[in-house]
Amino acid sequence: MGADSNNKPRVLSGIQPSGNLTIGNYLGALKQWVEVQHDYDCFYCVVDLHAITVTQDPLELRQKTRESAAMYIAAGIDPEVSTIFVQSHVPAHSELAWMLTCMAPLGWLQRMTQFKDKSAKQAQESIGAGLLNYPSLMAADILLYHADLVPVGDDQNQHLEFTRDLAQRFNHLYGETFTLPSVMNPQAGARIMGLDIPTAKMSKSEDSENHAVFLLDDLARARKKIMRAVTDSHRDIRFSDQAERAGVNNLLTIYQAIAGERNEEIEAKFAGCGYGDLKRAVADSVVSTLEPLQERYYQLMNEAGYLDSVLRLGREKAAAIAEATLKLAQERMGFLAPS
Ligand code: TYM
Repeated sequence: MGADSNNKPRVLSGIQPSGNLTIGNYLGALKQWVEVQHDYDCFYCVVDLHAITVTQDPLELRQKTRESAAMYIAAGIDPEVSTIFVQSHVPAHSELAWMLTCMAPLGWLQRMTQFKDKSAKQAQESIGAGLLNYPSLMAADILLYHADLVPVGDDQNQHLEFTRDLAQRFNHLYGETFTLPSVMNPQAGARIMGLDIPTAKMSKSEDSENHAVFLLDDLARARKKIMRAVTDSHRDIRFSDQAERAGVNNLLTIYQAIAGERNEEIEAKFAGCGYGDLKRAVADSVVSTLEPLQERYYQLMNEAGYLDSVLRLGREKAAAIAEATLKLAQERMGFLAPS
């Protein structure tokens, strides 16, 4: 187990700085991160090495990396309690990723739904090899810290299974080295869908105007997007897994993820209401979540030097653990230690 000196189990998770963070990222990941930070020894990483699996504009990547780190803090991660760092600042991630890539069966990688989806959108010759190997890098992120738990949205569950399988393979071949991590999905909000196409996951890289609410959207705009969300021609407001009711289900899920109430309580609350009422209630709860978060975010971005000092300290704490694990894995694999 990856417990620290206080014997708390360890948590690791990350978000790609590949665009603006959405309420999907918040409800699926960030919100859980904040909730668990006092009970676990938490490491939260801005995974810039993952972002380059598709081409990024260099200036924008640098900017988004800082913005993401600031957003972690604005969302409620306390840098005095949790470790916040940038993935590329700790070279052990790339080094272990290579070792794991060499052990990862191609068949496992090709079966990953995310790879299949993303590669289906591109011509075969132009798909970067990083897109295929990406789960080995994610496995390295997790295994370097001996993480016990990984809080993520449910689109990452398959990558977690891959991580466990690969860790087991390594342990079997070279001796007990890595902790097998467990996935942690939020009770509500593990998969927030697009507001315009509620059968597709809300994504930060989708460009259509009413698809996602971004955490930094102007509040009036966020409200407007929710008021325009696709619903259906039924009248009753109920949770449902039917595709034609996905829009209403998604609005109820967003509401639930913020309010933390049970299905029946929420359905009772909206009994006899129209879709307009539901949308207004969802918009109110989203806006009241975003407002304080945005305020903290802009304050932080204006505080010269603060973010850099958080990331510097985070790098030091992360690197100490990651380097020790890397060294052990290298020894086990048979690398000659430098004299
Ligand atoms: P990424 O950057 O796509 O998403 C970051 C986190 O947000 C969650 N998420 C969602 N949750 C609910 N509904 C949605 N629509 C939604 N969209 C995104 C994701 O599940 C994720 O938790 N491979 C990861 C990043 C990563 C990582 C790691 C995560 C790299 N190394 C190690 C955990 C541990 C990714 O691309 O997430």
